[in-house]
Amino acid sequence: MSGRTYFIRTFGCQMNAHDSERAAGVLETMGYRPAPDPATADLVLFNTCAIRENADQRLYGQLSALKPLKLADPGKTVVVGGCLAQKDQATVAQRAPWVDVVYGTHNIARLPQLLARADGATLPVVEILDHTETFPSALPARREVAHHAWVSISIGCNNTCTFCIVPRLRGPERSRKLGDVVAEVRALVADGVCEVSLLGQNVNSYGRDLVAADPGAGPRNRTLFAELLHALGDVDGLERVRFTSPHPKDFTADVFAAMRDVPNVCEHLHLPLQSGSDRILRRMQRSYRSARYLDLVAEARATIPGVAISTDIIVGFPGESDDDFDDTLRVTELAAFDAAFTFEYSPRPGTAAVALDGHLDPAVVNARYRRLAELTRTLAAASNARQVGTVQQVLVDGESKTDPQRVSGRTRTNRLVHLPRTAATDPGTLVNARLTSAAPFYLHGEVTTARAQLGVPTPAPSTAAR
Ligand code: SAH
Ligand code: SF4
Ligand code: F3S
Repeated sequence: MSGRTYFIRTFGCQMNAHDSERAAGVLETMGYRPAPDPATADLVLFNTCAIRENADQRLYGQLSALKPLKLADPGKTVVVGGCLAQKDQATVAQRAPWVDVVYGTHNIARLPQLLARADGATLPVVEILDHTETFPSALPARREVAHHAWVSISIGCNNTCTFCIVPRLRGPERSRKLGDVVAEVRALVADGVCEVSLLGQNVNSYGRDLVAADPGAGPRNRTLFAELLHALGDVDGLERVRFTSPHPKDFTADVFAAMRDVPNVCEHLHLPLQSGSDRILRRMQRSYRSARYLDLVAEARATIPGVAISTDIIVGFPGESDDDFDDTLRVTELAAFDAAFTFEYSPRPGTAAVALDGHLDPAVVNARYRRLAELTRTLAAASNARQVGTVQQVLVDGESKTDPQRVSGRTRTNRLVHLPRTAATDPGTLVNARLTSAAPFYLHGEVTTARAQLGVPTPAPSTAAR
């Protein structure tokens, strides 16, 4: 197999970015090496997402674009894996019969066997399993970036949000042992990583299954997730810990306290709101209400100096009235989000929301979407503008995507910052930067101290939540 090259295109969320790094690691242990693009790669893998309908369309569009390359070079291997493959199963092979292998969310570890079976086969090899045998985290990884790693703390989800297909595709929640997570992080730091992002569909229910199975496993006075944040605070050389996503219903004060007290835990909270209307939250089976959500926002801002809060919001859920949408606008404004991902509701097969009444005219949904996007853009612009003049720690990620004279990095609050490229701005370097100008989705700055003192943030001004 040596000498063969691969290219992976990843759709969807950070969980998929994590899985792609594992798929790359598995391929590299088989002797594959990375290729710069799908045209030159001997193996092209699409790691897919099914969260919204346009994710489906994009995959099939990109697969069609690959067909001529595959027909011109039958030795090229085309693999489709991940959430959309889990959802569509044999349909992928029917719609794109030139594909060689289809695997789901539970069997990345089986790639070598599936590829071996595909050698010379005329029909796609399809294997979709119902549950995960080997945690992807246990597989070798080839990281995209040397200084950053995704670390999965749990897989699956036990919630029943009526719009969401993820539990069907990723199965019930299973947590990794705290010691295993910490050991992985320590090994990553020894390998040059200084920032980790902890991943779970619902990070703050982390460990409940472990404690249920072994009541002695949990700490007495705090949740296992808070315990994990404290444990990672003791890892020398680990400068930044991020996590996504907590669920508002499971949020506990000990996590805010950890974000305040553990120096390497970053001051960024991604807290999905989904809707500002209590009626719609009920229909979504999201069991918190808007007042509770706003209390959490206020508590975060009061506890964690300079915290930035981002969110996910769905517009046009079935039955959403003008008044419900106004509630979303109102809560968005009160929360003063620093960043927001906004989505038009997309019906997903097998989810409870599909059977609800009150599905909306797409034109109405789109008009609401544009109003909300305008509001969240204004809030993001104001949030970034408040940073101008402050000095903040920036972790340089690499060359700016738009300007080779600049590098891009992130503040601890996850703001994107562009800096002039200098001898001190290699990827993975922490610098202090004075922020000089702001746009809604990025800032410009200049380096004030190369190699910033680690773990000591300059708090940015906070915004009152209400
Ligand atoms: N587990 C994460 C969410 C993962 S999906 C959490 O609970 O925070 C990421 C986001 O996609 C969700 O927060 C939601 O805003 C959006 N989303 C999920 N299903 C959707 C659908 N059917 N239509 C539109 N947006 C959806
Ligand atoms: Fe989906 Fe809800 Fe689970 Fe998030 S918490 S993955 S939105 S079911
Ligand atoms: Fe993520 Fe998309 Fe799957 S959001 S969990 S890759 S459906």
